[in-house]
Amino acid sequence: MKLLVVGGGGREHAISDKLRRDSPEGTIFAAPGNPGTESVAASVPVEDLESLAAFAADERVDLTVVGPEVPLADGIVDLFEDRDLPIFGPVRAAAQLESSKAFAKELMRDVGVPTADFDVFTDLEPALGYLRELEPPVVVKASGLAAGKGVIICESLEEARRAVEEILGGRFGEAGRELVVEEFLPGEELSVFFITDGERAVPLVSARDHKRLLEGDRGPNTGGMGAFAPVPGIGSDLVETVRRTVAIPVLEELAARGIPYRGFLYVGLVLTPDGPKVLEFNCRLGDPEAQVVLPLTRGNLAEPMTAVARGDGLSDWQPPPPAGFALVTVLASGGYPEAYPRGLPITVPDGIESEWLRVYHAGTAIRHGQLVTEGGRVLGVTGIGDSLTEAGERSRAAAAAIEFENKQWRRDIGQDAGTVATRSSP
Ligand code: AMP
Ligand code: GLY
Repeated sequence: MKLLVVGGGGREHAISDKLRRDSPEGTIFAAPGNPGTESVAASVPVEDLESLAAFAADERVDLTVVGPEVPLADGIVDLFEDRDLPIFGPVRAAAQLESSKAFAKELMRDVGVPTADFDVFTDLEPALGYLRELEPPVVVKASGLAAGKGVIICESLEEARRAVEEILGGRFGEAGRELVVEEFLPGEELSVFFITDGERAVPLVSARDHKRLLEGDRGPNTGGMGAFAPVPGIGSDLVETVRRTVAIPVLEELAARGIPYRGFLYVGLVLTPDGPKVLEFNCRLGDPEAQVVLPLTRGNLAEPMTAVARGDGLSDWQPPPPAGFALVTVLASGGYPEAYPRGLPITVPDGIESEWLRVYHAGTAIRHGQLVTEGGRVLGVTGIGDSLTEAGERSRAAAAAIEFENKQWRRDIGQDAGTVATRSSP
């Protein structure tokens, strides 16, 4: 088996690590990879789609797995499929579920998937007119991909007005050419991940992400400062409801439009008093959520992904239920999510990793033989245990022991899980 993982962050380290466990004898490449993926995969220093396709063809890669959304939105799957190269992920038109919030919202309205009331705008005056009909808080979103930064939760209509003006004024470039204005949904969030062949959707373990920078879920939004899985109180009945009332109708509609969706489908939900409502779709695994979902996924993932990539379908594939809990604490650079320095030396104590403790590299590099910081989110430290408490203690002990200057991290990941479980029970 020859496998290629596209991407170079913590999620792609977790994917490479899972594929290595599933395929101990296989050859795994990561493009571009990072210093962490190097322990399980050979780094390939290419990122542009043409070079990736040429590499996969030359090496006769059996399965390419795409980590991030940008290559999917740019059409990597279309390119590979044109050349009969097996790849796991949605084609560009289907990846609009993530790359165009307007597309996703209108599709949900068409098929009756519960989501926040909304409207889509390209011009200022109609958007401002719609705002006047709403009660704050309201949410203003750039429709296109904005690396998690294009969503502004506005406490007042004045703030919403400014957000609309800024987004249509070009703050997020082309991503903000179209705008979604929607009602604010109160409640706890849940991320449900499916693997799908376009018809069937099989859930992996569900997770919760902590997006805010600071403890107590305060401060600016980030790509995610930590996550845990499974979420206490979330039963298989709720996941089945999401599969039946969200995933399947969306997949059927995309298939009917001639753009069947294959790959990972990430459904971001709010558990409102009126039941689960969809916040967003992503066409990939979450980061850092992949760093808890994949270590808990039992059974081989390479096989169903290969079957889907070849067009054979999932048939009756079903992973065994997860055993235990996982919790990841992200170690970020001082300054993140704004500007941060690079090149600071990192010390990871010898022997810190075990079956219960994984260190996933995100923004790291090797300079003159030394591991250094290279990105905003630097490392993800995943603890695994029989309880969420045990997983959290393992993660935090290791997060404290790994050092670099001005390391930022949250000591409270997963600590609201008890109250969440009570509040979110359907
Ligand atoms: P999105 O990229 O659409 O998932 O938005 C990023 C984050 O903003 C979500 O994970 C939520 O925390 C928050 N958010 C987005 N839309 C809403 C909404 N309608 N109501 C409440 N929170 C929201
Ligand atoms: N952690 C949020 C995401 O991957 O979209």
